[in-house]
Amino acid sequence: MLSYFLLAFLTPLLALASDDGGITGPTTSSDAAGYSCDASNCKLPSCNCASTSPPGGLKPSDVPMFIVFTADDAVQSYALDSVNQFLAQRKNPNGCAPKMTYFTSLMYTNYTLVTDWFIAGNEIADHTMTHVGDPSVDEINGNAVALNALAGISQSSLQGFRAPFLEYSVNTLKRLYAAKFTYDSSATSSIPVTDPGTDAFWPYTLDYGMANDCLEVEGSCKGQPVLPGFWEIPMYAFFDNLGDTFTAHYNGLNRQLIGLYTHPFLSTCRRPTQAFVNASSKVTIGMINQFLDWAQATAQQNGVVDDIVSNEQLLAWVKNPVPVSQLDANGLLSHCTFPDFSFSTWYGCPEVEPTLSNQNPAQQVPDDEQPRRFRCEYSISRPIGPAGANFTGPAYVPFSAGVSQFPSGLSHLILHASLAVGLLFGIVKFSKHF
Ligand SMILES: *[C@@H]1O[C@H](CO)[C@@H](O)[C@H](O)[C@H]1NC(C)=O
Ligand SMILES: *[C@@H]1O[C@H](CO)[C@@H](O)[C@H](O)[C@H]1NC(C)=O
Ligand SMILES: *[C@@H]1O[C@H](CO)[C@@H](O)[C@H](O)[C@H]1NC(C)=O
Repeated sequence: MLSYFLLAFLTPLLALASDDGGITGPTTSSDAAGYSCDASNCKLPSCNCASTSPPGGLKPSDVPMFIVFTADDAVQSYALDSVNQFLAQRKNPNGCAPKMTYFTSLMYTNYTLVTDWFIAGNEIADHTMTHVGDPSVDEINGNAVALNALAGISQSSLQGFRAPFLEYSVNTLKRLYAAKFTYDSSATSSIPVTDPGTDAFWPYTLDYGMANDCLEVEGSCKGQPVLPGFWEIPMYAFFDNLGDTFTAHYNGLNRQLIGLYTHPFLSTCRRPTQAFVNASSKVTIGMINQFLDWAQATAQQNGVVDDIVSNEQLLAWVKNPVPVSQLDANGLLSHCTFPDFSFSTWYGCPEVEPTLSNQNPAQQVPDDEQPRRFRCEYSISRPIGPAGANFTGPAYVPFSAGVSQFPSGLSHLILHASLAVGLLFGIVKFSKHF
């Protein structure tokens, strides 16, 4: 069990969260939510009712203990160092390095690092251009355009949004839906999981409106807004005054997920322009690592699969919720023996030895096992370079004409931006999605 002592040290994490939209009390109630969802009409993978029970009717014991890890704001080298100090030394039970979601904004972001972080398998998501609450269409879409043009993130990979200060409105959600985002993650689940009225819902679609933040966001809930197939991934609060939030989620009747939502600017010893090591940051960093050590060890001791995941990975699982046994958490390493040589791999043995003429033989899939190849990524297609150009795709063609194709909202950006022509091509490709 996590001692109360350790949790006392988790309190600074709450303080950390409240720097950017923290909560002081319940932000909803079942009355205010007035939520009703017809589960017989709302079915995965495109629809999911807000519920505290795991998706797909799975038994809680068949569900991994998910720890969603996110970071917000500018990406700079100190920020990636900050995230790495929590994740780089860890492995999920399947042997893969944990991935996380980075909600980036334009200002102070170094885009080469965004590309690096994305290629490493992490999710990049939208946090507005200039870090404002209740953002305009240009704040939301402009940041997506920049991520495409400057970091090569394609629209199909850019799925998520979080409002700065967690300050969103019904219009924000509608704007995200119109721009074909897959999910928002700005809502707070503010009622402890131990409370019968808890709003620690698994990710849900807005086919029947919002069910979180109903006391806070005007015009939300009681069936609104209706955005079919658009997901809300609530942010799962830690409650320091109750002591053991993690154990409540983990041992509770429904094994709800929890989240660690960081701001690298606050959890770093090495801020830009800061010559000294901030002792208080050091304590925060140590505390978060101590918590993750404990959470991973406890789960493993109890034979539970704990998975540190990005929102993207979480959503992939929710849409297709397979029981833990099929995640094949143990015994992943395959030993492959061939006449010429032998090797071990996490990705499943090929049926025959790879050769020049047969470079990627089909995978051996033993009876009653799942295929393992690409298991460290939920998405195997990772475009690199502007406009999604990749090593196997068609050659990269710089933009040279066709300004008239741009929607009017983007034209000022093109006129005023002194971007290289190659980057403009990225915008054209991207704008087709809007
Ligand atoms: C951005 O990051 C790259 C890679 O670490 C580094 O070489 C470059 O100096 C950084 N640029 C700025 C302006 O900080
Ligand atoms: C050290 O970091 C903490 C937590 O982010 C912050 O509140 C404090 O102001 C920082 N101290 C200094 C001297 O910068
Ligand atoms: C590379 O690009 C091509 C064409 O756009 C696409 O079909 C393919 O799936 C991409 N491959 C990867 C690994 O992203």
